[in-house]
Amino acid sequence: MKPVKVGICGLGTVGGGTFNVLKRNAEEIARRAGRGIEVAQIAARRPNPKCETGATPITADIFDVANNPEIDIVIELIGGYTLARELVLKAIENGKHVVTANKALIAVHGNEIFTKAREKGVMVAFEAAVAGGIPVIKAIREGLAANRINWLAGIINGTGNFILTEMREKGRAFEDVLKEAQALGYAEADPTFDVEGIDAAHKLTILASIAFGIPLQFDKAYTEGISKLTSADVNYAEALGYRIKHLGVARRTDSGFELRVHPTLIPADRLIANVNGVMNAVMVNGDAAGSTLYYGAGAGMEATASAVVADVVDVVRALTTDPENHVPHLAFQPDSLSDHPILPIEACESAYYLRIQAKDHPGVLAQVATILSERGINIESIMQKEVEEQDGLVPMILVTHRVVEARVNDAIAALEALDDVVGSVVRIRVEQLA
Ligand code: HSE
Repeated sequence: MKPVKVGICGLGTVGGGTFNVLKRNAEEIARRAGRGIEVAQIAARRPNPKCETGATPITADIFDVANNPEIDIVIELIGGYTLARELVLKAIENGKHVVTANKALIAVHGNEIFTKAREKGVMVAFEAAVAGGIPVIKAIREGLAANRINWLAGIINGTGNFILTEMREKGRAFEDVLKEAQALGYAEADPTFDVEGIDAAHKLTILASIAFGIPLQFDKAYTEGISKLTSADVNYAEALGYRIKHLGVARRTDSGFELRVHPTLIPADRLIANVNGVMNAVMVNGDAAGSTLYYGAGAGMEATASAVVADVVDVVRALTTDPENHVPHLAFQPDSLSDHPILPIEACESAYYLRIQAKDHPGVLAQVATILSERGINIESIMQKEVEEQDGLVPMILVTHRVVEARVNDAIAALEALDDVVGSVVRIRVEQLA
């Protein structure tokens, strides 16, 4: 059988890795796909010194690939929202299948892209968009297809996890670690996407859609970064038996779906709390399978290429399938997506770590306890440290039971209004993931 021809758009880290893996494992991949897979064209602004592209035709214009009649599958690896959207829509219009690693593109424009792809009967595959080399999309979309998914929680940004790990293990400064992550090639072009949780929110949006069968709604995700975390809180969390991780959490509730990315205290003995450095992990809880955990490299040249090439193999295997029998993009049939709302963060529920800086007076703890109890907030544990020399204040650390966020907001406002409380109350959400 004739080989399937693919065009790679973008020959950066992931594009270069994809070319190399397709070339190195060509025989093994063909045995799996049932046909050879040939890179017929590459679009790149500059060569990648890690790739020997040999006689493969190279163009500087990505639309040459989308318009090339020889090409069956366009692999979009240029990143970004705007040009990537135009490229993907053009490829679909030309009847080509698309494989992409672009989480921002899928999270923001996925609904439009999938609608167009269905109209043309082509596939759009995006395993590499979430957690690099971990086949978590396939696991949720296909492996857990029997389940009603209750919740999922993931460490889905390697740069952020690397920063938190280095801060905790070596007491290193935030900026210093971020520079190292950039040098390792993990950080986004705009590193605020990593540290402010935008990259994780893109990925969480995609995971939530395929877990719950809801349209992609990135604009409704709550996003809080790690840039304001202090080593004091990292250490207090440790003393209480927790680790702080930058977690994406999606949860089904009776009133809607929670979709939130924020620093989170997790019990230190959970497997996911011990996922360190640039590694990613996603925990999924389904009613039949219970909790499952997927762990591996969330970024990197060949780890991400592994997911891209697996998608290419999937597309090749399904080339002769009727379009209506393709695995649905968002796991559920498009006319069966749920319109249950995404909840605002005030309506989400979790436990809370609160750190209060108080004056060292009798009765302060009683006032704090009263404010919490008046709002129905149950205290799970409390830790009061010795007076700090530099300001004479007492750090008071509380962990609450689960409560709706609006009540905690109200309590924090009342606490900050107390004469004996100085500055802002630090609030970090806590998840048991049990
Ligand atoms: N910047 C991302 C990360 C790359 O650090 O995880 C993979 O999406």
